[in-house]
Amino acid sequence: MKAAVLVKFGAIENAFEIREIPNPMLKDGQVLIQTEGFGLNYADILAIQGDYKDCPPLPAIIGYDVVGNIIETKGDCGTLKTGDRVTAMSRFGGYAEFAATESSACAIIKKDFEMGKAMALTTQYSTAEYCFNEVQNLHKGDAVLIHAAAGGVGTALVQMALDRGCTIFGTCGSDEKVEYLKSIGVHHPINYRKQDFFEVIKNMIGSKGLDAVFDAVGGKSVKKGFQLLGTGGRVIVFGGASMTDTTIIGKIKTLLGFGFYHPILFLMKSTAIIGVNMLRIGDDRPDVLKRCLNSVISQLDSGILDPKVSKVFNSKELTEALYFLKSRKSIGKISIRWNS
Ligand SMILES: NC(=O)c1ccc[n+]([C@@H]2O[C@H](COP(=O)([O-])OP(=O)(O)OC[C@H]3O[C@@H](n4cnc5c(N)ncnc54)[C@H](OP(=O)(O)O)[C@@H]3O)[C@@H](O)[C@H]2O)c1
Repeated sequence: MKAAVLVKFGAIENAFEIREIPNPMLKDGQVLIQTEGFGLNYADILAIQGDYKDCPPLPAIIGYDVVGNIIETKGDCGTLKTGDRVTAMSRFGGYAEFAATESSACAIIKKDFEMGKAMALTTQYSTAEYCFNEVQNLHKGDAVLIHAAAGGVGTALVQMALDRGCTIFGTCGSDEKVEYLKSIGVHHPINYRKQDFFEVIKNMIGSKGLDAVFDAVGGKSVKKGFQLLGTGGRVIVFGGASMTDTTIIGKIKTLLGFGFYHPILFLMKSTAIIGVNMLRIGDDRPDVLKRCLNSVISQLDSGILDPKVSKVFNSKELTEALYFLKSRKSIGKISIRWNS
């Protein structure tokens, strides 16, 4: 099979080689998918830079999302069978024409469902589902802050929060994204390059505070989010996009930026900071990943969720696609389709 193999950390244009390699071998409970393409995630940028701890040693096939047809199953794969078209979380191995993954990480999709949308359902929408519905319970009228709200996970969180009747503050880094956030129903879009989200929100909601903050930026952003919480509020931390300064000093600064928290702080105001790592959930709690995926599919079927496709590139444009993701200009999901 053909695979885009990560061979070198650093500049995106030198990072990959398209290689012919053997198809992956299946373990019990896994399916082999002939992929139509694969999805990009922000973590791929960190992996290419050599800043992603969970990335396998080089040469490595990265990538978490694939869409395609099952061509083989091994052992107990539940109701999945050869010929089913699925969207699947591959937990690496996604940048390839064939991917092996756990049957619990797959969801059947219609034959004519748009590939670009299907690609967002696994990593991005399942992460949003876990952050929004598994680790807490939000109610109508609750106030939430969603960082990187125009991104893949961000758009999913916005759609879930709208359906729940929450008031949404959403941050983003451009006026174009502000317009997008308005168009999808975010009540208070904030361009953080022009306004300090902390000041804007503090002035608007005062001491009532926020009920939830969804943060994949990390560092100081988490500390500010925590300070904006009202009684019973939670910060859900699921990424560290701001950890771009990879010098030792830079890393220390970002880590210190998160702040220090004594449990007594949580006790006094019934608050919490909750960390989320969907790779670990997929590995150690496949039942939970399956539940998230099923819930996402049922919300899709009932029209609550509708993934936003940023752009589908072809496999010859992988470098361009990754630079687009890195540029922070993308709105929604970026996918790659294998050239036929
Ligand atoms: N924990 C998990 O299991 C898990 C799973 C999936 C994704 N994630 C995390 O969730 C986040 C969103 O992932 P995604 O794939 O949907 O990507 P995305 O949101 O489509 O793209 C990343 C966006 O992050 C925003 N951002 C904010 N501050 C940034 C900074 N300092 N540096 C770079 N970007 C910054 C940028 O938009 P603006 O500048 O407009 O805000 C950028 O477009 C990522 O941080 C990812 O690592 C975590």
